[in-house]
Amino acid sequence: MSDSNPYGPISRLNHWVLAAAMIGMLGFGLYLEYSGLPREAKRPLVSIHRSLGVLVLILGAWRVGWRLFRGFPRAIDTTPAWQQRAATAAHWILLMGILLMPVSGIAFTVFRGNPLSVFGWFEIPAQAEIPWIVSTASFVHTYFGYMIVAVVVLHAGAALKHHFIDRDATLRRMLFGQ
Ligand code: HEM
Ligand code: HEM
Repeated sequence: MSDSNPYGPISRLNHWVLAAAMIGMLGFGLYLEYSGLPREAKRPLVSIHRSLGVLVLILGAWRVGWRLFRGFPRAIDTTPAWQQRAATAAHWILLMGILLMPVSGIAFTVFRGNPLSVFGWFEIPAQAEIPWIVSTASFVHTYFGYMIVAVVVLHAGAALKHHFIDRDATLRRMLFGQ
């Protein structure tokens, strides 16, 4: 970590790897939901979505753990206080989403009594069926998913506003070494 940039190389790599993974998974999930594919065609894709989601959880646990351990860097000084508060709220929601989306997906699969094979490499065993966990987890997966989509749009829009309108270092320090 350099003095001039509170985001060191690990924080930046973590941010962009999980940003790409989450945007990809949100797009994948929405495609499954709205493409109107027949059930048979959807089945192998859902299986890939599940397996990738478990891998995202493993990477995400490391990424969220790193952020909690290191703490959040302060926003650029010229950012108004209300925007700093909004950004902090958005960052917490995004970090929660990185964990909650895969955890809810896993929960509604295994507590429906189905095992979850991750690309055939390893398996999360089926659990006894518990309907309230299935319905809660399914609700979370859908509606937290939509919320994350909205927050990501605001978050990325805010980063672009900082870069092109305020012309400050907010986006640059997340992209580059200084
Ligand atoms: C293309 C899309 C994205 C852009 C341009 C972007 C840009 C940024 C920038 C510039 C910051 C630094 C903010 C500051 O210094 O106060 C930041 C922080 C953050 N971003 Fe993003 N971001 C994007 C997508 C995402 C996604 C998809 C997620 C998670 C689902 C995410 C999660 C976070 C979090 C949690 C932080 C707080 C610092 C950290 O833990 O890394 N971002 N983002
Ligand atoms: C980062 C991780 C994940 C993200 C961002 C994500 C996102 C989404 C989204 C946005 C949807 C569409 C809305 C809905 O139908 O609920 C969806 C559907 C779904 N997700 Fe995920 N998901 C993730 C991980 C998982 C995991 C780990 C599993 C299971 C183990 C899973 C299983 C499913 C299933 C079964 C559907 C319904 C597909 C259908 O329409 O039949 N997801 N996901």
